[in-house]
Order: sequence, then C-alpha cells, then structure tokens
Amino acid sequence: MATSIDQQARASQPADGSTGREPTGGAPRGRGRLILDAIDERLGIGALEYPVPDHANNLAWSLGGITAASLGILIVTGILLVQFYNPVPEAANASVRHIVTGVWGGRFVRGLHFWAAQAMYVTAALHMARVFVTGSYKRPREANYLIGVAMFGLVTLAIFTGTVLKWDQEGFEALSHNIEIGKLVAGVGLWFSPTFADQVPMLVRLYGAHVVILPGLILVLAVLHGLLVKKHKISPHPSLPADDTGTQAPADEPTEPFTHHLRRIAAFGVVVLGIAGILAVLAPPPVGAPPVAGIEITRPPWMFWWVFTLENWVGLSGILWGELAFFALLVAVPFIDRNPRRSWRQRPVAMSIAGSVVVLLVVLTVLMAATPAKQHLGM
Ligand code: HEM
Repeated sequence: MATSIDQQARASQPADGSTGREPTGGAPRGRGRLILDAIDERLGIGALEYPVPDHANNLAWSLGGITAASLGILIVTGILLVQFYNPVPEAANASVRHIVTGVWGGRFVRGLHFWAAQAMYVTAALHMARVFVTGSYKRPREANYLIGVAMFGLVTLAIFTGTVLKWDQEGFEALSHNIEIGKLVAGVGLWFSPTFADQVPMLVRLYGAHVVILPGLILVLAVLHGLLVKKHKISPHPSLPADDTGTQAPADEPTEPFTHHLRRIAAFGVVVLGIAGILAVLAPPPVGAPPVAGIEITRPPWMFWWVFTLENWVGLSGILWGELAFFALLVAVPFIDRNPRRSWRQRPVAMSIAGSVVVLLVVLTVLMAATPAKQHLGM
C-alpha cells in the first residue's frame, strides 16, 4: 500500500523525537560544522560529497578541472578588462595601450588574461589527449566527448577573436583573413562579412562574440559536460580492472568524496594563477601600433601556425579546409572507433593514427616558424 509523504517522513525520524540533526554521543558540534550544516540544509551542498574513484585524482585525470579553473581566471580578468576596453575601431588600439600604461594593474590583468588563455588551450588539448589515450570517449561517454570537441572549437574561436580585439597589425590581419575565409563559404560565411550588419563595425561584432556569445556557449556546454561526467561517473582506469560492464571503475577501487577532488582542482587552479601571474610580469603580451591596411607582415598566434603553413602552400582555403578536416576527424573518432578496449596497448591502430596526426600538426607548426609571412589576402 502506498504511504503518504508525511507518513514516510515520520517513519524516517528517530523514535526519541529528535530531528536526527543533533550531535550524538554527547560531543558538541563546532560552530563551523553547524554553519556548514545550516548552509547544506538550504543549498544541498552535501550532495557534492559523492564518492569518486581514487584514480580521478591523478594529474592526468584532473586536466579537465584545471581547464575549468583557467576559464574561471579568464572570466574574472575579462570582466575587469571590459571596463576599460573600447571596441570602436578608431579607439580600440589606443584603449588597449591605455589599459597597459594608464590603468592601475591593467598591464598585469591583461597579462593574466593572455596567459590564462594559453593555459586553457594547452590544458584542454592535454585533457582531450588523456580522454583519447584512456579510451574515455567510448560508450556511454560519446556524447560528452562531442560536447568536449564543441568546447575546444569555441576555445579556439575565443583565442582568435581575442587576437583581433587589440586592433594592431596582427589583429587586423587576423580579421582580414576571417573576412576572406567567410567569402569562401558563401552563405554560411555571411555573419563573417562586413555587409551582414553594415551599421556595426566587424570589430564590435567580434567583441560581442568574444565577451558574450563564446564564453556563454562555453559555460552552458561546460555545465552539460560536468553533469554528464557525474551521470556516467569517471571512466575506469585502463590499466586497472573495470567493473562487469567494462564502463565503470570496480566497486573495490578506493574512493574519496568529490569535495576532496574539488579541493585538489582548486590547488591546481592556484598554481595556474601563480604561473600566469609570473608570466604576466616577466613576459607581458605585446600590443603593436595601429594597423595599416593592404600589407601582410605578421604571424598568427602559435596555435594557428599549422594552418598557416597550409595557407602558404595552397592559399587561404588551406586555413578553412585544414580546420574543418581537423574538427571533422575529432568528431568522427567515437563513430569510427567501435573497439571496446580502453588500454592504449590494445589499440595499436587508433594510437598510430592519432600519433601520426600529432606528428603532422607539429611538423606543420615548425614549418610555419621557419617560413617568412607571405601575401595571401586579395590574391
Ligand atoms: C574546453 C573545456 C573543457 C573543460 C572545462 C572540461 C572539463 C572536464 C572535466 C572537469 C572532466 C572530469 C574529468 C577530468 O578532469 O579529466 C571532464 C571529463 C571528460 N571530458 Fe572534458 N573538458 C573540456 C574539454 C573537453 C574536450 C576538448 C574533450 C574531448 C574532445 C572532452 C571530453 C571529455 C570526456 C569524454 C570526459 C569523461 C572522461 C572520463 O570519464 O574519464 N572534454 N571534462
């Protein structure tokens, strides 16, 4: 027979009439514990205490969390920069110079933003590599892998749009490439053309993308990503035995509360903040003079060097097709690789293909470093 909620609640209360929240065994609870309990009663933070397998605390398995910590630094420093940056083309370059020379702490905050972006890109790429090597993109985590690929694409776009904002020669040439590539994809590239909204400069629209659209989408996807990690639980360590389904850590692997994992991630986040802070002082990002139209003399940020080698070989379309091929390959991974094994030793084909792609990217990157910038725009 079904019982009412009241009956169920009464049945779960202790027989002595207490609420079950009072200290037992006579030991008084500390004030801190009482405050935490009161907050937990209202916000349910205790739900974060769920167990996670021990291996989730390894550095390699914490890279997603470190990426999220870099995102946090980017959001805080970005909010500060927005107060002093002016996206109107006539004023943009001067406002960045003013941030660096005329705003108290501006040079440091800009440096932190720049270096946290580098950290986020590198840790997201390493996180993706870890997910690949440990076979964590396999059933049932394929959809979450694809959400990750989408986030990586958005992070790449955020770095690209951020480069344009400083509106020096490098930023201007990056935008010029953007406009030319938009033309190559006809209707799909409409948003990337100045005629899409001819009353609003492209720089202002890219600024909107950089401060609202891209971070907003990354945050929404990051929440989904986190919820799916919680739902599927962290994938089993490939060199330890998995459970019977082959998709979860075994019941006998030691666990720790997720809150302890969060503490570790916070500590890693402080390390990233410290390194970004040191680099912001020792190697602040440069800002060049206002741009000159019609010349092409700069190199893009290092994460785009590999596609610019392709551009040197086949023209502007090399950038478009190179990036599309790279992301199509990433998207295809869980569809092509149906092998249920997770250990890299048992996946020689997948590991050889991935290794070849990495070597190709490194070779293309190095070739760009060794090649002088060439004229491609308007050709
Ligand atoms: C760009 C921002 C990203 C953030 C903030 C992020 C965050 C996280 C976090 C916190 C976890 C928990 C485990 C861990 O830290 O390793 C995780 C797991 C996962 N991530 Fe990401 N991630 C990002 C990008 C990616 C990318 C680019 C991919 C793959 C293309 C990806 C695929 C996955 C998968 C499949 C899992 C489950 C792994 C497992 O259970 O072992 N993520 N992510």
